[in-house]
Amino acid sequence: MCGIFGYIGEKEAIPFILEGLKKLEYRGYDSAGVATLEKGQLFVTKCLGKIQQLEEELSQKPIGGQIGVGHTRWATHGKPSQPNSHPHQDCTGKIAVVHNGIIENYLELRRELANKGHHFSSTTDTEVIAHLIEENYDGDLLQALAKSLKQARGAYALAIISEHTPNSIIIARQGSPLIVGFGAEESFISSDIAAMLKYTNKIIQLENGQIGRLTPKTFKLFDLELTPIKKRKELVSWDPQSAEKSGFAHFMLKEIHEQPSAIRNTIEGRIKAQDHIIHFDELNLTDKEICRINRIVFTACGTSWHAALIGEYLFEQFAKIPAEVEYAAEFRYREPIIDDKTLVIAITQSGETADTLGAVWEAKVQGAKVISICNVVGSSIARESHGVVYTNAGPEIGVASTKAFTTQLAIVYLLAILFGKRHGFINEQQSIGLINDLIELPGKLEQTLQVEKEVERIAEKLHKANNALYLGRGKGFPIALEGALKLKEVSYVHAEGYPAAEMKHGPIALIDHKMPVIVLALAGRRYEKILGNIEEVKARGGIVIAIASDKEPAIMEKADEIIFIPKTSESLSPILAVVPLQLLAYYIALKRGCHVDQPRNLAKSVTVE
Ligand code: F6R
Repeated sequence: MCGIFGYIGEKEAIPFILEGLKKLEYRGYDSAGVATLEKGQLFVTKCLGKIQQLEEELSQKPIGGQIGVGHTRWATHGKPSQPNSHPHQDCTGKIAVVHNGIIENYLELRRELANKGHHFSSTTDTEVIAHLIEENYDGDLLQALAKSLKQARGAYALAIISEHTPNSIIIARQGSPLIVGFGAEESFISSDIAAMLKYTNKIIQLENGQIGRLTPKTFKLFDLELTPIKKRKELVSWDPQSAEKSGFAHFMLKEIHEQPSAIRNTIEGRIKAQDHIIHFDELNLTDKEICRINRIVFTACGTSWHAALIGEYLFEQFAKIPAEVEYAAEFRYREPIIDDKTLVIAITQSGETADTLGAVWEAKVQGAKVISICNVVGSSIARESHGVVYTNAGPEIGVASTKAFTTQLAIVYLLAILFGKRHGFINEQQSIGLINDLIELPGKLEQTLQVEKEVERIAEKLHKANNALYLGRGKGFPIALEGALKLKEVSYVHAEGYPAAEMKHGPIALIDHKMPVIVLALAGRRYEKILGNIEEVKARGGIVIAIASDKEPAIMEKADEIIFIPKTSESLSPILAVVPLQLLAYYIALKRGCHVDQPRNLAKSVTVE
């Protein structure tokens, strides 16, 4: 939550910061602000609302300077308001702080600081940092910050500029991401890589407990004892275009359309064409270790949790290993019973979700082997796990996750085959067949995307409905959950996903002639049962929209609308079936006038518990 962007160099800082903040707006957008240093003097502008409001304020009353930091906020402590927006300042007005995270002991610190005479202008947790630095300042800002951070508890990415050190940005990280990017004679800081890709792909990701001083040409990194740390710059291979909309109206739509190429990238290099061997470079599990594993626990949040549900089916089906799925926030505080034969698989797009990170820590403490399936290279969860498999989907900027989900499913599928082979339940021939199905999938995704116009027409019909029910069986059930989540997130329509058989145990009472029921009628052994559920809905007057792959008479007769997807194996059909549901949510949201890429109250990376 919250985005930080900063610039230090020879050019005017504000245009870089505004552009960076716009790219980070998915992390929060209830208020925004900037601080710059010009000729050694600190200037701060902040306001309620989105970056556009900030841009307007700055065009009325420009501020200059070649050093600056900016912030886009997703409120946690203190409601969205001008005084609560960042940057926050100390009593002297010489120090400006932007922060992503939560200072957990801020009330206690605030009381102590107020007793010492500090005056607070906001109700945020962040402001204590500005006053703590002021209190601890003794001629060296870096030292003052290090001392302050020993008093603060919680999570933070911090960037500070001050009249005390007019030629540097001081930064620190604990729990929330912060990246430094290096250009020619200029440097950047950002909460994610994508926001600075246009300027540089040479980066250093700060680790927890690190603090640094950035000048236009130098970067010095330390631990909190101010012992210097050496860290090599990494080169990021993402294409800068991937962080732009490239002609699409919204990132969500662009990312839905990117799914065929995203899955190609996911597979590339992981399957050797000649012998169909699956290999994951950073998995860090030997064949012997894989064979020892007798239980899988998936942990994740939101859409990634839905991918985990499919993983549960696949691991049990292909590898015959008992698998279960845990909400990360529940798992971490539940004293889970796991041991060194348990493999915990954390699934996360951002790699920064606080609850998933907490679950990874807990699993490690309990002695489990932990691997993560992650999109963001070098993110906290990727680094905290014993092994990692990257989805390679490219930056996902739309708040509603789409291509990250389908690429997670592709990885889970490959992992389940790999484990199935090692555990002796999948032979060479079967493995080749399963892998070939996956190799054909991107082409089938391209065909699936051709339903877009059809889905838009159906969205026109449904967009005024205030509720929707999504039903599925087997691997169609997590897709029903995912379809409902997409609709809720972007169009604010109340939607529920259910295992179709559960409908008669309660939700059936909701069905009347106004209720759209989206049914995953996927081919396979549950198909006939699903047809029975469609009958039940129709008998109560509900409107049935079926997602199906077979133009067979029964479904043609029963459903009010059918969206056809290409035929594939039962195990891969969720990857195709979710695409029309993503499009449906997108077009319903558009027709309801919702802000698709920045749905209200949401932020892409949930770095708070
Ligand atoms: C939904 C969505 C969220 C995320 C969840 C976990 O569209 O994006 O539900 O899936 O916040 O985020 P990651 O995958 O980054 O851990």
